Amino acid sequence: MGSGDWSDEERSRLRSDSVASEIENVPETGCLSIVVLGASGDLAKKKTFPALFHLYRQGFLPPDEVHIFGYARSKISDDDLRNRIQSYLVNDKGSSTEQLDDVSNFLQLIQYLSGSYDSEDGFRLLDKEISEHESSKISAEGSSRRLFYLALPPSVYPSVCKMIKTCCMNKSNLGGWTRIIVEKPFGRDLQSAEQLSTQIGELFDEPQIYRIDHYLGKELVQNMLVLRFANRFFLPLWNRDNIDNVQIVFREDFGTEGRGGYFDQYGIIRDIIQNHLLQVLCLVTMEKPISLKPEHIRDEKVKVLESVLPIRDDEVVLGQYEGYREDPTVPDHSNTPTFATIILRINNERWEGVPFILKAGKALNSRKAEIRVQLKDVPGDIFKCKKQGRNEFVIRLQPSEAIYMKLTVKQPGLEMSTVQSELDLSYKQRYQGVTIPEAYERLILDTIKGDQQHFVRRDELKASWEIFTPLLHKIDDGEFKSIPYKPGSRGPAEADELLERAGYVQT
Ligand code: NDP
Ligand code: BG6
Repeated sequence: MGSGDWSDEERSRLRSDSVASEIENVPETGCLSIVVLGASGDLAKKKTFPALFHLYRQGFLPPDEVHIFGYARSKISDDDLRNRIQSYLVNDKGSSTEQLDDVSNFLQLIQYLSGSYDSEDGFRLLDKEISEHESSKISAEGSSRRLFYLALPPSVYPSVCKMIKTCCMNKSNLGGWTRIIVEKPFGRDLQSAEQLSTQIGELFDEPQIYRIDHYLGKELVQNMLVLRFANRFFLPLWNRDNIDNVQIVFREDFGTEGRGGYFDQYGIIRDIIQNHLLQVLCLVTMEKPISLKPEHIRDEKVKVLESVLPIRDDEVVLGQYEGYREDPTVPDHSNTPTFATIILRINNERWEGVPFILKAGKALNSRKAEIRVQLKDVPGDIFKCKKQGRNEFVIRLQPSEAIYMKLTVKQPGLEMSTVQSELDLSYKQRYQGVTIPEAYERLILDTIKGDQQHFVRRDELKASWEIFTPLLHKIDDGEFKSIPYKPGSRGPAEADELLERAGYVQT
């Protein structure tokens, strides 16, 4: 169905959605139905339901307005689903009676429905249940809001979206909306992503589609724009005249355990670099938006993505950890990279000549995600007694969020010598007692509020696939080989050599 086929009623509904997303801070009241599709799966139990629970505990999902539906094919009962997710709701430090009460009350808000993803029966039943819930709660004034979280493999997105559109749209004449959250990987390359975007775009308008990238919900990723544009310190420094190279790094100290089958179809570039690390790169490199309005921010992200030059073959190192193929769900001769270092270069006035080194790997020596901005050497160095270290500005996204600056100071004492030291803003010390929200929690709340600032727009997604598709096709065609590396290592030695060639100096 094309957009030309929408009825007047559907059009006016879509218009009210667009308006809702444009009006800031308009408190919405009324019934909210949250539907987790793929409720039996891994993401749902580990991330989606726990995020909903945290929102519930903080009062963002009042029980007199909210009902949560789990939907999947598995024939399980309400209690089976509740039992499955319960242990992910309480933290490892043990739980207070109050928290256990909250868990139990939250679980009572959840109802499970079983049905297929491509036939109307299940979705009609879902619609009936949502409508019943709405009529029981709409006695108070307010709109009815329907949020569908697709915690599902992307292969079923088109059929599920069609079913939602056909059977489950919000029907309240008091206003409200229908929104969908879709997960990554959104496509496998430019062509498949565009095809998927077109299929979903024929059913839903852009303001209704929330393409989630959970890195955009991380505290220090969200801090990036504030750091860059609210501090005089950084404004004159943030360019090719001062910055030598930038690294955006993701490491995990475990392999693809339990997800080998999924991972092997995608690899580390599609799993981490094309989405999470590229989103971080946008925030590090984009120009200042006119305002914080979602469209202004996303316009700037698209501009910088479109300025990325084609990736050079000699600026790529791929790796695969030894033992990866022992997973029975991974083919014996798989060449899928579990590690990659890729240099991106941006052709604009601010960044020409600066290498942006994106590095991601599984089964490495540590779990860490960070941004390292390394400045150029100080010209006319007069402290010849000791090799001057370079200034570095580091933003550690996880674990233990921190922002620190490596700089050279005088070694305390009688001698005039220099030493590298740090100005350190470690969040645990500075913000004691402050709980940093989980990324998913924040992003689901944004969806309920209609704020798309931290979600990926269609043209942004297209631009990101344009960057990586030629390289991905070469890898898929076997033109690029993954170099074996030992689990628990730093990855292939060739990646460190590339880093050195790009100009990075260990400080
Ligand atoms: P799962 O493999 O656990 O699938 C979720 C549910 O979808 C399953 O419980 C199953 O439910 C149904 N399902 C599985 N395979 C198929 C299939 N081939 N056809 C139709 N239905 C199927 O996925 P995850 O929960 O791990 O991930 C869901 C989405 O989130 C994916 O797009 C994934 O890439 C993304 N994601 C996952 C993360 C994670 O940590 N797990 C992290 C970031 C993104 P049933 O059979 O009961 O219908
Ligand atoms: C997911 C990837 O998107 O992000 C996983 O599919 C990865 O492979 C995960 O483990 C990492 O997320 P985080 O928040 O733990 O860094």
